[in-house]
Amino acid sequence: MDGNGRWAEQRSLPRTEGHRAAETTVIDIIEAARSAGVEWLSLYAFSTENWNRPGVEVDYLMRLVRRVVRKHAPLLLARGIRCRFLGAADPRIPRELIQDFDDLTTLTGDNRRMTLTVAFDHGGRRDIVEAARSLIRSGTSADDLTERVFAEHLPFPDTPDVDLVIRTSGEHRISNFMLWKVAYAEWVFPEVLWPDFRAPDFLACLHAYQRRDRRFGGLPAQPNGDPR
Ligand code: IPE
Ligand code: MG
Repeated sequence: MDGNGRWAEQRSLPRTEGHRAAETTVIDIIEAARSAGVEWLSLYAFSTENWNRPGVEVDYLMRLVRRVVRKHAPLLLARGIRCRFLGAADPRIPRELIQDFDDLTTLTGDNRRMTLTVAFDHGGRRDIVEAARSLIRSGTSADDLTERVFAEHLPFPDTPDVDLVIRTSGEHRISNFMLWKVAYAEWVFPEVLWPDFRAPDFLACLHAYQRRDRRFGGLPAQPNGDPR
């Protein structure tokens, strides 16, 4: 979800106003994804590198996320959305926010229409290092280690590989996002800034994805759709 700061700067507003405006987009895209039949939606809200931002901006984001999580909990529950939080390991995160994450996870735990993963204080490299630590602790031998076994030690191993990554605001970077799971993801980079991103923009990304020919290193299917 990129471009909040630039959205605000274009309006001569403080950067935090861009984050505030992002709330509308977040709800719009959750609804759009659910209506379109998306079963797994992940939102990258805060990276392990975002701690490098000024303290006032970090504090604002912590408070904003807390407010959004609490305010929209009934809607998420009613819409059949199971919520989970990826990362959220840093001791600098306010205890009350961790409690809100836990509460929303529990509240929506039986929902199955769509799983919403909020990546907050997330880093793909951290997840890989944590998986390696977990493997070492489990006593897995080098010979027994496979990609499948490794993936089971990543957080939320039931989450499928990422099919499509949408990065708004015209930036073309991975920025440490779910590094293991994006191995064969398709990517789209809409120019629109996140606070201006709306359901039609999201659907345009899905349509772009549908036109992609995913070969996973293989060859294109034959015209009749059969594998070669
Ligand atoms: C939001 O956009 C992403 C967050 C880390 C919350 P930015 O704050 O990165 O906006 P730009 O890139 O400065 O425009
Ligand atoms: Mg940015």
